[in-house]
Amino acid sequence: MSPPVLDRPADLRARVRAWRAAGESVALVPTMGDLHEGHLTLVDAARERAQHVVASVFVNPLQFGPGEDYQDYPRRLEDDAARLGERGADLVFAPTVESLYPHGTEAAVRVHVPAFEDILCGAARPGHFTGVATVVAKLFNIAEPDIAVFGQKDYQQLLLIRRLVSDLDFPIDVVGMPTVRESDGVAMSSRNGYLDADQRRAAPALYAALRAVAGRLGRGERDFGRLERDACVELEGAGMQPEYVAIRMAEDLARPPADAALTDLRILAAARLGRARLIDNIAASAEAV
Ligand code: PAF
Repeated sequence: MSPPVLDRPADLRARVRAWRAAGESVALVPTMGDLHEGHLTLVDAARERAQHVVASVFVNPLQFGPGEDYQDYPRRLEDDAARLGERGADLVFAPTVESLYPHGTEAAVRVHVPAFEDILCGAARPGHFTGVATVVAKLFNIAEPDIAVFGQKDYQQLLLIRRLVSDLDFPIDVVGMPTVRESDGVAMSSRNGYLDADQRRAAPALYAALRAVAGRLGRGERDFGRLERDACVELEGAGMQPEYVAIRMAEDLARPPADAALTDLRILAAARLGRARLIDNIAASAEAV
């Protein structure tokens, strides 16, 4: 059975405050809907850690740039609510754009997290991370959760949210859960639905390229620029247009020193494949081939 779906911030706040007044803990799982197993494992993780789970479903216009897929982004609230209910979510928060941005999206107050805005996905999608930080800060203020759960698939977003929480003193424990993959290694993503059959067959190349970089790092190679360039060539060979392949410090995405320990490194990539912009990342010390 589907859990109650609330669309007014005041209603969600009242419900959560009643739980908290009874001494019960609350976890929030923010999503944009079109849920797949990757999202649902976030709900599982939330249930293990708190007495109540709120999942939000909101396609946030602030985090889409001009010409991106805001209009096309799949909206399937009824299905999503049913799946969330099956996995034990207590409440779905699905606000309208007007209820979250009552003064309009252009005039909305924005939250900037400068450390991540101009690098990697931040550089490729101007305004994107400001839009994410803004909506997540709003969701945190409305839902007042003890815990918030996000996927490591969006690794840069996860670090950005940790920084948001630390710099704005939100009393929230941010939990990052491992990426859920299809059997051929492709990271689950709502945007995989944009791929046609040929593109879907090519898609595992992204994860394969990351693992190849991890393998070479594991064997002691430390010419990061060369590893990144070679991975881009592999992606082009698979029919993708790589935006970047980057070896960075896992903690803050800084460029690593040549003697960085393998365990401190994260390998991240973004590539276009047809209409889809695919992103993925792995720890350098994991899954090496
Ligand atoms: O990861 C997402 O789905 C979105 O960026 C988020 C965190 C729900 C904010 O809109």
